[in-house]
Parts: sequence; C-alpha cells; structure tokens
Amino acid sequence: MANVKLAIIYYSSTGTNYKLAQWAAEGAKEAGAEVKVLKVQELAPQAAIDSNPAWKAHAEATKDVPVASAADLEWADALIFSVPTRFGNVPSQMKQFIDTLGGLWAQGKLANKVVSAMASAGNPHGGQEATILALHTSFYHWGAIVAAPGYTDQSAYTSGGNPYGTSVTVNQDGSLQEDVQAAVMHQAKRTVTVAGWVKQGQGG
Ligand SMILES: Cc1cc2nc3c(=O)[nH]c(=O)nc-3n(C[C@H](O)[C@H](O)[C@H](O)COP(=O)(O)O)c2cc1C
Repeated sequence: MANVKLAIIYYSSTGTNYKLAQWAAEGAKEAGAEVKVLKVQELAPQAAIDSNPAWKAHAEATKDVPVASAADLEWADALIFSVPTRFGNVPSQMKQFIDTLGGLWAQGKLANKVVSAMASAGNPHGGQEATILALHTSFYHWGAIVAAPGYTDQSAYTSGGNPYGTSVTVNQDGSLQEDVQAAVMHQAKRTVTVAGWVKQGQGG
C-alpha cells in the first residue's frame, strides 16, 4: 500500500475538536499514514478569548500546534477536517482558511485529495450533520473524493450513527456525550485506506 500523507485540519475553541483530531491521528498512524495535526488561524479578538476561561485555557494549551497552510494541503494525499458548529455552519476561522485555497484550487492541486469531516455541537441535533455537509460542499468544488464513514464499521452504531462524518455532542463543562473515539479512529483509517487506493491507482 502506498505511503499516505494525511493532514488533519481542525478548529477548536474549547478542546473538543482538538481531541477528535488527536484520535484521528492515532487511527491514521495505526493505518500506516504519515500524519500532521494542524489548527487553523484563530481570528477572534483576544478579548473574546480571554472572556471565556475554557477558550483561553485551550488556546494556551495548543499554542504550539502548527497553523495549517496551503502548502500542507499540497503535501497531503488525504485530509480530515474537524470543526465545532456555529449556528449550524462552519466556523469562520475554518471558512477563512478554506477561502485562502483559491490558488491551489486553480492549479488543480486539490483534485483527487481523499477527504472526510467531523463536527461537534452543544446539542444532539444542534447542526453537526449540516456542518459536515457544508464542508463537503467545498470538497466537491475541489474535485476531492469524499470518504464518508457511512455504516462501514460497528462503531457507527455506538457513537450516534452519523454516516456523513463522526460527530459528537459536548456539554457546557466540555464532556462528550457519545463515545466516539472508535468511530473517529475508524473514519481516519478509512480515509487513509481509500487515499492509499487512489494513490496506488495513480502509480504513486
Ligand atoms: C457562536 C456559537 C454558535 C454555536 N452554535 C451552535 C449551534 O448552532 N448548535 C449547537 O448545538 N451548538 C452550537 N454552539 C456550541 C458549539 O458548537 C460547541 O461549543 C462546540 O462544538 C465545542 O467544540 P470545541 O470544544 O472544539 O470548541 C455554538 C457555539 C458558539 C460559540
């Protein structure tokens, strides 16, 4: 199997999506991938971050996580995106990053990337699916290949069963309401596996 390079690109205010990104990295490494975990640039004013102790603590704890760039996407064969929902949609920090990718897209360098997405929200039906599908919309514009988990593993049935991409509900205190670690790791392995097939098919 071809050696797959995976970039996991996330945004997180209070740590949930950072945790999902870490689990995805674990699953992808088990599948033999070379993995980068990258956050997108924070855009919120420092005063807003400072006003929320959990946000401030998470920003401080992850200050050394590298910030994603277009070059990281060019490097990668496979991409996993992870975001908290914002009013049922993609957070502006991630959207801003996506909106910097016009140059790469114009050169055809996002085509055939194998991608998948994960999300979190404060409520069980607070917009996780819509947020993942909003990310998928951009992926289709790139000509990327979406490797959604579907129901390809038993972990779907114990994690809330979101076939579009793993998602989780998170309480005000930051505790996850569904046990999604196995589903995240499966999604990452599947993304890497499909990327391996695509890469091998291209002779690489
Ligand atoms: C501006 C804003 C909008 C939000 N919108 C929603 C929403 O539409 N539905 C929902 O269930 N949770 C909503 N939330 C809660 C976040 O999705 C939740 O805090 C997040 O998933 C936690 O992820 P993180 O720890 O990685 O930041 C919102 C939070 C903020 C700050």
